[in-house]
Amino acid sequence: MRSFQFYNPTRLIFGKGQLEALKTEVPKYGKRVLLVYGGGSIKRSGLYDQVIGLLKEVGAEVTELAGVEPNPRLSTVHKGVDLCKTNNIDLILAVGGGSVLDCAKAIAVGAKYDGDMWDFAQRKAVAQDALPLGTVLTMAATGSEMNSGSVITNQDTQEKLGWGSAYSFPAFSILDPVNTYTVPLDQTVYGMVDMMSHVLEHYFHLDANTPVQLGFCETILRTVMDAAPRLVEDLENYELRETILYCGTMALNGVLNMGLAGDWATHNIEHAVSAVYDIPHGGGLAILFPHWMKHNVDVNVDRFKRLAINVFEVNPEGKSDKQIAEEGIDALSKFWTSIGAPNRLADYDIDDSQIEVMADKAMLFGPFGNFKKLQREDVVSIYKASL
Ligand code: NZQ
Ligand code: ZN
Repeated sequence: MRSFQFYNPTRLIFGKGQLEALKTEVPKYGKRVLLVYGGGSIKRSGLYDQVIGLLKEVGAEVTELAGVEPNPRLSTVHKGVDLCKTNNIDLILAVGGGSVLDCAKAIAVGAKYDGDMWDFAQRKAVAQDALPLGTVLTMAATGSEMNSGSVITNQDTQEKLGWGSAYSFPAFSILDPVNTYTVPLDQTVYGMVDMMSHVLEHYFHLDANTPVQLGFCETILRTVMDAAPRLVEDLENYELRETILYCGTMALNGVLNMGLAGDWATHNIEHAVSAVYDIPHGGGLAILFPHWMKHNVDVNVDRFKRLAINVFEVNPEGKSDKQIAEEGIDALSKFWTSIGAPNRLADYDIDDSQIEVMADKAMLFGPFGNFKKLQREDVVSIYKASL
């Protein structure tokens, strides 16, 4: 293992009926609340009314920022920052999926910064302060509810960049599986692909002596694979929603990667695709991850073999290590297709015309990936294989 410090300041409030915790959490931070939400799902589900009711009970003064886009935009972050500054906001409350949470994180740091928050995404500056942020998560996917990461799209430059800081962890996050009942089938699938991809990003590392971390990863992958086929047939099943919601948080809250540096190249490759085509993140990952794996199987064939046997139950008898490894990759791809995820860029009508543009975007900060450093030609080759 490499040396590490682990610190996660987010209070995780998990379970049925836990929305009530707003009454104890919100007053800790002040009266003026900026309520941030997306395109209307929380109004349709009734969650908006519940949140407003609880905020009224504690005497909060609520300002609203509605309409955060999936793949949230910098222009929306700017609107939120202005609202914070003009209304002297004490607490930002994000109610929604990862996009709403990520947008709220960017607003939180932007509200305490004189320049443009985009500086943080461009690595020109590092956030030094933020408004406190609380979240009510409505979709299991990104892990944003318990990490410091955020991904923002600048439409003017067609860039989608991840950033993070010590100041962008939510102070509290409320996760009630019931609030995920209304997530539509396609988004439910994308969310499960995303959390499995987070686990896989951790799984592919070069650090030695990480048996517990690998085992944790395998347990989460097997758990999602066990629940997913049943959940897609039964979207309001409490236990399955609960399991998946917990998996999504655990996949990217810093626990799985203690003592190791995961790869993260596939995420970078995917963000470049959604920067240009505005596709759902999980959909892009379902297409690209198996091709990243095929491209890198020789880096450490034993790791791929272990995944194939321990997670995909590939029978190793009479097969070479590489055959076993490749069967595992095919099994992953087939599993994702079986629950309804896309498996070719063509499924989103993406052809080869923008490959060079996407590769340029992926290479913005130079070669990347901790398991295998990818050069531009690797990225192009993975895109071509994914067409
Ligand atoms: O906007 P509304 O109306 O709320 O609808 C959303 C949206 O259309 C809908 N939805 C969410 N909860 C719902 C619901 N519909 C009905 N009922 C509910 N309970 O689902 C759609 C997608 O929502 P979005 O928030 O975009 O999905 P997700 O949570 O997958 O977030 C994706 C974004 O997170 C970034 C992605 O790149 C993408 O921009 N990521 C953030 C990470 C992080 N912060 O750590 C890591 C990830 O790897 C990822 O890159
Ligand atoms: Zn992701």
